[in-house]
Amino acid sequence: MEVVVQKLTLRSWLFTFAFNTVMRIGFGKRCASEEDIGTEKGKQIIEEIREFLFATLVFLNMCDFLPVLKRFGYKGIEKEMDSAHKKRNVYLNSLLHEFQHNKGSISVSESSTDRNSEKKDTLVGTLLSLQESEPEFYTDDLIKSVILVLLIAGTETTSTTIQWAIRLLLAHPEPFHKLRAEIDSKVGNERLLNESDFTYLPYLHCVINEALRLYPPVPLLLPHYSLEDCTVGGYDVPKHTILMVNAWAIHRDPKLWDEPEKFKPERFEGMEGENEGFKYKFIPFGMGRRACPGAAMGIRTVSLVLGSLIQCFDWKSSEENYNMDECYDSKIASGKDKPLEVVCIPRNDRIQLLSQL
Ligand code: HEM
Repeated sequence: MEVVVQKLTLRSWLFTFAFNTVMRIGFGKRCASEEDIGTEKGKQIIEEIREFLFATLVFLNMCDFLPVLKRFGYKGIEKEMDSAHKKRNVYLNSLLHEFQHNKGSISVSESSTDRNSEKKDTLVGTLLSLQESEPEFYTDDLIKSVILVLLIAGTETTSTTIQWAIRLLLAHPEPFHKLRAEIDSKVGNERLLNESDFTYLPYLHCVINEALRLYPPVPLLLPHYSLEDCTVGGYDVPKHTILMVNAWAIHRDPKLWDEPEKFKPERFEGMEGENEGFKYKFIPFGMGRRACPGAAMGIRTVSLVLGSLIQCFDWKSSEENYNMDECYDSKIASGKDKPLEVVCIPRNDRIQLLSQL
């Protein structure tokens, strides 16, 4: 196998991966083929999609607080939202149309898969069969909304987490080598890491938790709205209040965490989600009834990708002096961080393994 060394913009590559994953769950197809990834064509496809999915994700619209501004249109936000909504609708309509039209059709890049079983097992396939029995409930709009939520909630969050974990590991050689040693001793070099290995890779989980603590992809969670008067953490919250929870600040509170600014995956050793001391101070997925329903899938996906990348590649970054917080320039949607450029080279004794993929 010829080893090609090239500089990679991790963000675009990881987003494509995360987007393809959700697309395969939803429609049984990818949005960009493997050949397209990393090419100008692939980047263009992805950037266009990213643009209309995320461009108008603003959690604080001044018009919600001063409705009089709606008349003039504050910063054109509502107009932009309207235009993004139309673009999303066109995109989702075309996906749905393609799916319904080409019974079981999947993208060219999926040549080796069984087309019929792919279609039956897709989320959209299932929703469309439900539509046949309950058309009033399972409308096209409902199906499109479900897919849209998954595309928005399940892609950038996952890819950003992997990017931050790699960035942190590159800046901290000791945890990097500790993680690699764990993977090498438990998985080896003859097969790729898989889900059944997770139980034996506790340090991998610690690294992911620590990345989520320092750089939660949704730092202010989602806005919550009270329908009734209630009390939160001892504070009275009147009804019709928008409540924002600052996970970023909680994750870095020195009253809750020892040396909170430091990357120390070991702090999570022996601490699992069920642990009482853990609750409330570590909330990258929110908590309660509206907590992230994709948390388990998110953690699994991040573990598989991060673990395999560390298992198979040597990593170098073009960033000389790491200043993580400078990269994390938005406290509202951390996907806006500075892209990380890396060079990853297959490890010598993994080339055989990679060539079988
Ligand atoms: C590492 C990956 C992920 C992180 C860090 C994350 C984080 C979050 C957070 C913080 C919330 C808001 C919770 C709140 O406000 O209390 C949320 C909501 C949500 N997430 Fe995730 N998420 C991830 C992956 C996923 C995936 C893979 C999916 C689905 C494929 C998903 C689907 C959703 C949905 C549908 C909601 C809205 C839930 C509701 O409003 O009731 N997320 N996520």
